[in-house]
Amino acid sequence: MPVIIIRDDITRVQADAIVNAANSSLLGGGGVDGAIHRAAGPQLLAECRTLGGCPTGEARITKGYRLPAKFVIHTVGPVWHGGNQGEPEQLASCYRRSLELAQMHCCGTVAFPLISAGVYGYPKDQALRVAMDTIRECAPEDMTVYMVIFDHDAALLSRALYEDITEYIDDRYARRHEKMFARRKEANLGQIFAAPMFKADHSAPEAFPMSEACMDCEDTVCGGAFGADTDLDTLLSNLDEGFSVTLLQLIDRRGMSDAQCYKRANIDRKLFSKIRSDAHYRPSKPTALAFAIALELDLEQTADLLRRAGYALSPSSKFDVIVEYFIRRGEYDIMRINEALFAFDQPLLAG
Ligand code: APR
Repeated sequence: MPVIIIRDDITRVQADAIVNAANSSLLGGGGVDGAIHRAAGPQLLAECRTLGGCPTGEARITKGYRLPAKFVIHTVGPVWHGGNQGEPEQLASCYRRSLELAQMHCCGTVAFPLISAGVYGYPKDQALRVAMDTIRECAPEDMTVYMVIFDHDAALLSRALYEDITEYIDDRYARRHEKMFARRKEANLGQIFAAPMFKADHSAPEAFPMSEACMDCEDTVCGGAFGADTDLDTLLSNLDEGFSVTLLQLIDRRGMSDAQCYKRANIDRKLFSKIRSDAHYRPSKPTALAFAIALELDLEQTADLLRRAGYALSPSSKFDVIVEYFIRRGEYDIMRINEALFAFDQPLLAG
């Protein structure tokens, strides 16, 4: 049941069902309710009139009419009164009941807005947390769920977390540039050269500029450059096990089942089967990192797994630095990491 956060207008999403943040009358309103009714056309309201309303925390289903989605699931979220009047439980119930209805109608894909996080005043970061936790807990394995965020509101993260990550990014980025200039000054070459990699036609070895990531390799663990006398034959004969074989070894070593691992990585079963069956499979970097998170690898182990897929962590990539932030803190909840990546407009893990 991968959960994917996207930025879009939910009325455009091509899911089997989209969820409407309605009010108990089910007779339309503003916000996403208004948008869905406008896009679906008057027949939606006509069908809603036959439903006789909906209590808070419950859900009702109608057709989608002019919408791309086959169904609209109308649910009524709680109005925020400070969080001590059962709001989290009622909000979780909205997601749970909507998922139940979606499953009863054989929906393979469902798209949610951030229920109650608009007019009803639920703080966005808390609304997102309830949403992601409930979806992860209740969504059927063969369902893909989209969390559709409409606006660029950075309040998706708590202020403290947002500021802590921002500070970490600035620090890493600044440190990298300081090192880079310090080395340039020291080497006085204007360019940084790694140890020669191949002896080019027995003349003076051909050097090659190190990738920026390697310049911080004592900080940012990376694949590093090869030794001074590595020639191509030695290099190729030292190739380690590929990504897939290493991943399966790590899953066994962690005592996890395949399903436990790919669910924690927010990866669907089909993709995992592809990786498992192809020893030379080359995953995307977000997918490789998602497995590192699922296996709770430290930075060194993560760099090794990435290297086997042909990647390295780099301080010049905000995506890498945010993932590194969570690994350094031993925080391996992929939903939390994806919420942070989304808030910083970065690709998602396994996305
Ligand atoms: N697509 C996706 N998300 C949207 C869209 C859209 N087209 N329009 C708004 N949103 C987002 C808002 O940014 C907010 O984060 O949906 C979230 C929920 O906001 P509301 O629509 O205001 O819903 P809610 O807070 O649950 O309040 C429900 O508002 O519209 C009335 O009739 C509705 O009385 C009910 C109340």
